[in-house]
Amino acid sequence: MFNIAIDGPAGAGKSTIAKLVAKKLGFVYVDTGSMYRAMALYCIRNGVDKSDEEAVSLACKEMDIVVKYEDGIQLVLLNGEVVNDYIRTEEVSHVTSSIAVYESVREKLLNLQRELAKEYNVIMDGRDIGTNVLKDADVKIYLTASVDTRAKRRFLEHIEKGEECDIEEIKQDIIDRDYRDMNRKIAPLKQADDAILVDSSEMSIDEVVDTIVSIVNDKM
Ligand code: DC
Repeated sequence: MFNIAIDGPAGAGKSTIAKLVAKKLGFVYVDTGSMYRAMALYCIRNGVDKSDEEAVSLACKEMDIVVKYEDGIQLVLLNGEVVNDYIRTEEVSHVTSSIAVYESVREKLLNLQRELAKEYNVIMDGRDIGTNVLKDADVKIYLTASVDTRAKRRFLEHIEKGEECDIEEIKQDIIDRDYRDMNRKIAPLKQADDAILVDSSEMSIDEVVDTIVSIVNDKM
């Protein structure tokens, strides 16, 4: 199988780009963030304290996370329920990066992610794909953008959906999430030594997609 790993901070455009690259190449787009988000949703719904590692570890045993692909769209099932519509809120984002620091949480998803990469040609996005999940990926991309650019993109996404939000709050949340994701002990976000850096701050979506597709084509 041919595997592409794409890592980077929140709001860098990984999912938008990865979906388009997957379509162009006929690959499966695997969104690992959604799997962590489904676990956070379980904690929120069941009143599990995100700062209590033991409680979260116990909750992990009650969660069954499964992914399915329908027409190129990834469905995440939490104990049999498709939860795609409930995992994109700021609350879920916040809780997700808090529980993603725990070993029990990360262990639960590691095999699932590796199995998918064995089964399909994937473009998999996350924080630790190139450094940990798929250390032998054929192509590794580290996609980033300035904090201001990323906050503005998130802000516009919410506005488009008709949701009220404050850009300064979003920016602060991105800074906090970056800090937690980059400074945790297990599988922190960092650029793999063999990853290619793409800074999308001044690039259009098409430019980023074309850049990555041409990197992949060169390698293939
Ligand atoms: O990519 P995203 O914004 O949906 O990810 C949500 C959170 O999940 C992110 O703050 C950190 C965590 N995450 C992770 O720790 N490892 C991954 N491979 C993917 C996401």
